[in-house]
Amino acid sequence: GEYLLTLAIETSCDETSAAVLKNGREVLSNVISSQTELHKKFGGVVPEVASRKHVENVDMVIQEALDLAGVSFKEIDQIGVTYGPGLVGALLVGVSVAKAMAYALNIPLIGVNHIEGHIYANFIEDPQLQPPFLCLIVSGGHSHLAYVKDYGEYEIMGKTRDDAVGEAFDKVARAIGLGYPGGPLIDQLAKKGNPEAIYFPRVYLENGSLDFSFSGLKSAVLNYLHTQRQKGKEIIVENVAAAFQQAVIEVLVNKTLEGARRKGADKIVLAGGVAANSALRQTLKMEAEKIGIKVKYPSLDLCTDNGAMIGCAAYYNYLKGYTADLYLNAVPNLKL
Ligand code: KG4
Ligand code: ZN
Repeated sequence: GEYLLTLAIETSCDETSAAVLKNGREVLSNVISSQTELHKKFGGVVPEVASRKHVENVDMVIQEALDLAGVSFKEIDQIGVTYGPGLVGALLVGVSVAKAMAYALNIPLIGVNHIEGHIYANFIEDPQLQPPFLCLIVSGGHSHLAYVKDYGEYEIMGKTRDDAVGEAFDKVARAIGLGYPGGPLIDQLAKKGNPEAIYFPRVYLENGSLDFSFSGLKSAVLNYLHTQRQKGKEIIVENVAAAFQQAVIEVLVNKTLEGARRKGADKIVLAGGVAANSALRQTLKMEAEKIGIKVKYPSLDLCTDNGAMIGCAAYYNYLKGYTADLYLNAVPNLKL
């Protein structure tokens, strides 16, 4: 036909997702089956439980994605699948299904890097967006400041040396008694708090570094809570959430603007689950616009894990000739 239909599968963590895309940027369907409820009682994702749930759900999710797109199995031109980074057992479910389908249909198989997928969510959100731009990728497992020179070409300018941003949100949320996942709950709670009420450290590391470190901030919050409890003092969780969030955002925004300055970038793009954070979106936009830099971010559904972003990345990989064979394997610690 005149266009390519891509089926994409994402099972790297606790979302089973499948999407059908037309020519990379047009999403015909994007079905996301979240396991959050299942993992809530454990306070985090349990890898073995996640793998089993993916096995149970994946066929149904794919069928629903095809149905919603009005596309039959045989019409699919290529299959994209997340092969890392992520939980090995979870990844293997998507990779196995994708390989079986690519073999059965005799069509190209494309392995996609999950972090790259997060960046590509922005190409779906804004059909006009083109590299180069600076991208801040902040999710539950990763934090990167990357200069996207071209499709598939990245210069990593900074990354976390310890906790990912989303991980810090989730751990602080747990410590103040919120549920899992904590990021969205902190986001909401912080709106009712005073960020100046408590001072938490901003960690900039050595002069000139664009790397991040959030474990010290996390410990500072835990210490604060411990001390308040020991002294029998009141803990105003709204203020803790607001002060913690502000400390994170200040560092993220300052380092991102410094990265943009170094590259002479006129566009900054946000990606990953934490890109859904309302204060981060607002603050980065406001500060960047003051110096004439545009800020873009995906709509909330495209920030967190989904198949559509994987399909978009698969399409551009395919155009570059990056296809996989049936030896494709899960790579839990795959780098960007
Ligand atoms: O990208 P994602 O869905 O999964 C990974 O690839 O890790 O990101 C999930 C992370 C979780 O840590 C979650 O708490 C965080 O994104 N998150 C948020 C918000 N929404 C999701 N963090 C802060 N504010 C939010 N609104
Ligand atoms: Zn993700």
